[in-house]
Amino acid sequence: MSNNLLQGKTGVIFGALDEQSIAWKVAERCHEEGAKIVLSNAPVAMRFGKINELGEKISAPIISADATSMEDLDKLFTGATEHFGGKIDFVLHSIGMSLNVRKGKSYTDLNYDFMSKTFDISAMSFHRVMQTLWKQEAMNDWGSIAALTYIAAQRVFPDYSEMAESKALLESFARSFGYHFGTRNHVRVNTVSQSPTWTTAGSGVKGFKEFFDYADKMSPLGNASAEACADYCVFLFSDLSKMVTMQNLYHDGGFSNMGMNPAVLGL
Ligand SMILES: NC(=O)c1ccc[n+]([C@@H]2O[C@H](COP(=O)([O-])OP(=O)(O)OC[C@H]3O[C@@H](n4cnc5c(N)ncnc54)[C@H](O)[C@@H]3O)[C@@H](O)[C@H]2O)c1
Repeated sequence: MSNNLLQGKTGVIFGALDEQSIAWKVAERCHEEGAKIVLSNAPVAMRFGKINELGEKISAPIISADATSMEDLDKLFTGATEHFGGKIDFVLHSIGMSLNVRKGKSYTDLNYDFMSKTFDISAMSFHRVMQTLWKQEAMNDWGSIAALTYIAAQRVFPDYSEMAESKALLESFARSFGYHFGTRNHVRVNTVSQSPTWTTAGSGVKGFKEFFDYADKMSPLGNASAEACADYCVFLFSDLSKMVTMQNLYHDGGFSNMGMNPAVLGL
């Protein structure tokens, strides 16, 4: 159902790999609400993912960009503003990848070259995105920038490994850049801390199924789905959230404020 919440708005969405991706659902919902979209993902995802299908479905051009490359990001936002014939109203950063997790390294035996790459892809890329937008003056006033994160930035989830620190860094970039963007352009910057969700990135974490079920039981509302996350992002990109900035916003069915739920113990 559409309420035209994003009618006339333009947005760049990173990270739609396949129909399970959170970014995929966000792009579909934003399109439904009337936004014009440009999609982006890493060049390798163009070959292995299904982003072209999504592009056709929502009439969105796809401009590939490795989010660790300033040159790629520069070309992406130049291309996006050319396509829109004007500036950008919202941006979603939905990018995450851990090399140490992928290579099966335990937290007490991490490879630091991998770790640097993980931080660059999963966190510094968010600063790179914002710095490029800032220098190009590509954001419309009162625009909205959001990135997806996870509560492992605040609490220990051992199998999340170095992604915990990536997310802590990502959330900090949102606060710090939020100050600058807010002061200059009234642009807001937030992170959305999402429940465990069945996606390529999510299910790469060891024991994901057990953990997904645990979080689902622990949360009074159950785990928030990717579709629900898309609704929340629409709200954040709409004019209904104009004064919300520099926040880490939990979108997790209540998980973050629970201590114990008897349902977890089967009581
Ligand atoms: N799935 C979960 O349980 C969960 C929970 C909370 C937060 N998140 C976060 O949501 C975001 C999206 O993940 P998802 O679960 O939809 O999985 P996903 O695998 O569908 O998305 C991750 C995306 O990152 C992209 N990417 C990787 N390296 C890149 C690079 N160098 N440049 C540009 N893009 C690159 C991938 O191509 C992919 O599209 C991530 O930040 C993830 O950490 C996921």
